[in-house]
Amino acid sequence: MPPKVFTYKTPDGKEFTSKAEYRDYMMANFFSFKEKKNEPNPLMKVPGDIDGQVFDIADCENSTLVVMDKTEQVQIDNCKNCRIFIGACSSSIFARNCENCVFYTVCRQLRLREVTQSTFYIYSQAEVHIEFSNTLKFAPFNGGYPMQGTHMQQLSLPLDHNLWYDIFDHNDQAKTRVNWSLLPVEEYEQPWFPMGVCEPAIKLTAVGSVQRDDGQVGQSFGVDQMIADSKKNTPPALPPASIPSPIAKKVNEVVQPSFFNSVPLEPPNSILGVALECKKDTFANKIDLTIGAYRTDAGVPHVLDCVREAEIIIQQQQLDHEYLSQDGHPVFTQVSQLLMFGEESSAIKNGRVYTIQSISGTGSLRLATEFIAAHMPSAMCYIPSVSWQNHATILQACRVKQSTYRYLDSSGCALDFDGLIEDISQAVEGSVILLHNCAHNPTGVDPTDEQWKKILEVCQSRKLFPFFDNAYQGFVTGDPATDAYAVRLFSEAGMEMLVACSFAKNFGLYGERVGALHIVVARTELIATVSSQLRALARSLYSTCPSYGARIVALILSDPVRNAAWVSQCKAMADRINESRNKLFAALVQYKVKGTWSHVTAQRGMFSYTGIPAWAVQRLKDEYHCYMLSNGRISLAGLNSSNIEPFAQALATILGTQE
Ligand SMILES: Cc1ncc(COP(=O)(O)O)c(C=O)c1O
Repeated sequence: MPPKVFTYKTPDGKEFTSKAEYRDYMMANFFSFKEKKNEPNPLMKVPGDIDGQVFDIADCENSTLVVMDKTEQVQIDNCKNCRIFIGACSSSIFARNCENCVFYTVCRQLRLREVTQSTFYIYSQAEVHIEFSNTLKFAPFNGGYPMQGTHMQQLSLPLDHNLWYDIFDHNDQAKTRVNWSLLPVEEYEQPWFPMGVCEPAIKLTAVGSVQRDDGQVGQSFGVDQMIADSKKNTPPALPPASIPSPIAKKVNEVVQPSFFNSVPLEPPNSILGVALECKKDTFANKIDLTIGAYRTDAGVPHVLDCVREAEIIIQQQQLDHEYLSQDGHPVFTQVSQLLMFGEESSAIKNGRVYTIQSISGTGSLRLATEFIAAHMPSAMCYIPSVSWQNHATILQACRVKQSTYRYLDSSGCALDFDGLIEDISQAVEGSVILLHNCAHNPTGVDPTDEQWKKILEVCQSRKLFPFFDNAYQGFVTGDPATDAYAVRLFSEAGMEMLVACSFAKNFGLYGERVGALHIVVARTELIATVSSQLRALARSLYSTCPSYGARIVALILSDPVRNAAWVSQCKAMADRINESRNKLFAALVQYKVKGTWSHVTAQRGMFSYTGIPAWAVQRLKDEYHCYMLSNGRISLAGLNSSNIEPFAQALATILGTQE
């Protein structure tokens, strides 16, 4: 038998039988930017384009070159007047013979040879080596793109700090730092987000805020440490020859062998990190705008009266603790279906909806994504370029291919509707489009009813599969039916889809983990097969769901009087949040805080993407004990009558006022 011949196919349809030729072709045509001169728009490689290969940049001038994917090694040669962004390189970036460039680099090692008049925004753990170079300036990496965190985790580049190793200048043994300096803080650029502002994976560094991280082992230095050392006019102290293991120090004895020596430390979630910082702050009047849960005007958690009442009834019923069925609580699944699709839903009437109880919103999203991975394996899932962080993480965990569609415009506070439509219009048939049904997290920016109609049209004409995340139904207008507009529009149009629902926010049942996953199919007979597969997936994930929260929701929604009470209590929460929006806007105007703030009242739901820059977020924290996410997201639920004015006043001081 003749030996089997392998063919290597390129994305543009060419076929090679020699791997070396295939690689050369790919390097020349896909994994490089060569001779790009005076390019009017940034040239971008997006997630999935490079996927861990070596990348080359050479002979470019006056151009912006962006690589937002995993790379193994990057070579940058002979570039002039360029802006270059390398998002996640697993080993070294080499820059040679470059002049007057600005680099944003995330890598393990940065090696510069014959580079002049250039600025580097560099990520921690990058060990920087300079040879025959001068007039270089260094600052911490500030910016990002939506999948950067995922890429860095895949490359084991830690996300939890943003310091860097010492800079080794091989032509300056005496360490006089004649060839490089720290970028003066007043020259820092705004953070660079090539795909639009998003939650940064690497902690943004506010001007002048970089500190030595005491919790760190190894020879990392922060800017302040380096400045302090250079002022002493002596070379920085050498690190100890060997760093004692923290474990050995603790128990003061021989380190026990372990199967877990190579387990990497998972960086803390950036949202939980700042929430924790806030929790530790003992200042009495601190302002916590990080929280993803409703708070009353007194700043405390809230249990709805209808929930309290249901708890008493359930207590009196003296129920047993048997397992729920694989589908979940039977009344709960029925009422949650009606809540989502409405009493008049033709999909329900025609028996085209199957609902399985699941573990709150996150568990529903995970179950749905497992289903996509198993039964739509080649589908690419598109998420908004700014989205709830866990969307990308769940898709990644299930190994579903992912990409993004544009979501925010250049103001960073409003919808880029044309960009969104353009991007989803280009998705191939069968792609999955993840949509936030309402109250988009983190931006609070939702499409209008008319825009939803257009999105539906594109999904229909391009044969795309909608995957709705419905975590805040009732939290926008206070009316769950109105807030179900997008899902109902799509289902009445006969679309097949998945809808992941959380009852954490609208019932205040955060810790009870009550969720529902709905699947709408084109033909009734498909229910038997898809439901069997969803049950099978759930069985391997968690077997059956907890019953307590589902009993509460079932009791409330199945009784017209309790249902009406819930709607009005949910509305009271939504009303308070909307009132906080209006009051915040009024206070920002009253104190003449610099900037335009109309987006605060235009956005919806629990969050607002305020547009407050990262450096101001840092100052709010450092000087006013006011905590929010570095991307400027605030939780309106954290605002109340006693902290809105101090918050606006603090902003007026930090951002300045307008006449
Ligand atoms: C957009 C979005 N989806 C899903 C969830 C999941 O919430 P849970 O798992 O608490 O129900 C959240 C929670 O913050 C969210 O903001």
